[in-house]
Amino acid sequence: MVPGGAHTNAKGDDQFPEEAPGFIVRGLGCHVWDVDGNEFIEYGMGLRAVTLGHAFPPVVRAAHEEMLRGINFSRPSKLEVDLAEKFLGLIDGADMVKFAKNGSDVTTAAVKLARACTGRDLVAICGDHPFFSVDDWFIGVTELNAGVPAAIAELTLKFSYNDLDSLRSLFDRHPGRIACVVLEAEAVAPPKPGYLERLKSLCEEKGSVLIFDEMITGFRWHLGGAQKFHGVVPHLSAFGKALGNGFAISALAGKRELMRLGGLDHNQPRVFLLSTTHGAEGHAMAAAMETIRVYQEMSVVPALWRQGERLLAGVNQCIDRHKLTGKFAMMGRPCNLIYQTRDSAGNPSQEFRTLFLQELIRAGVIAPSFVVSFAHTDQDIDRTIAAVDSALSVYVKALDEGVEKYLVGRPVKPVNRRFN
Ligand SMILES: Cc1ncc(COP(=O)(O)O)c(C=O)c1O
Repeated sequence: MVPGGAHTNAKGDDQFPEEAPGFIVRGLGCHVWDVDGNEFIEYGMGLRAVTLGHAFPPVVRAAHEEMLRGINFSRPSKLEVDLAEKFLGLIDGADMVKFAKNGSDVTTAAVKLARACTGRDLVAICGDHPFFSVDDWFIGVTELNAGVPAAIAELTLKFSYNDLDSLRSLFDRHPGRIACVVLEAEAVAPPKPGYLERLKSLCEEKGSVLIFDEMITGFRWHLGGAQKFHGVVPHLSAFGKALGNGFAISALAGKRELMRLGGLDHNQPRVFLLSTTHGAEGHAMAAAMETIRVYQEMSVVPALWRQGERLLAGVNQCIDRHKLTGKFAMMGRPCNLIYQTRDSAGNPSQEFRTLFLQELIRAGVIAPSFVVSFAHTDQDIDRTIAAVDSALSVYVKALDEGVEKYLVGRPVKPVNRRFN
């Protein structure tokens, strides 16, 4: 009934081994239960949105209480002002905010606003960062561009992360035409010293809008975002995911001189800026208010880093014990860990990724990444390390004897590919 078997590509059958649980029926904290009653420890929950844990009681309660008061009226709710005030208190340099439901809504809105205020049509995106939006300006330059007119895709250009010259050469080749520069302040590789500062200066010199996609970094690197962590404030930034602990809410934040073009107090052409039916749904806003309160009062971000460090240290010990350096590696910041699998020749391998996922699942862990949440206790982390140890013992044998001997079924495939 459902194309791809899931409503999010990253949850699809092609992303998990054949023995993976087919359907989840319940989650609590970092634990989930499948339709057969099997329990798993989960990582990267809700595509990194559920940072406090599944069914986190204070957030669920806040959302439920708001539902009982009604969630969508003919005029704004008071909550819209309260949340704007609270959110802007967190994000230095953002004067105004507009809420929406999905991350893509707000990255796309940022691009539109940049085009409107500069009168330019080209968009420069970081080609090393995996995802910015479901919309054509981004999808048009991915493998999955079927259905996107070439005329749209041609407006998006790519530069390389940590390589200022690659962006400078785009500006040189398209003088006065680049409306904005879109990137994550940091994804897997950290910025070289001074890179983000120089990137911002270059944007300002060329009259381009700097947009940080803070969907992942937002409430993981720092409660003030990667922009606070790195001390570089963009002109616009886009938040989502963790903002509502999995409830659908996102935010476009930025400088007043840009954001006000979506408002009523100017004489320029008004930008259609995120006017949606469900944009300010009460329960999602209440969830965000409560999520932010919990982050502030319970030091959530330091806990994410701490638990990630515990996991990283344990997994690195397993890698050493099994002599898998160069074949299996952890990457990224402790608050946002991913892993890389390589075959016996040292090449990145989907077969070995699938085998690792399969063996973890057999040991009770679902880990498409090792992105921790606030709900991962020391015990969960230690159980995960034990599962990794047993998965890597099979990995070693598969390197020697061939992965097909141990892998059940077909391997996983890259999520955004052109053909099946
Ligand atoms: C960095 C980044 N930006 C934007 C998005 C899009 O967010 P959404 O799926 O909520 O539209 C994602 C989603 O995975 C993301 O990881």
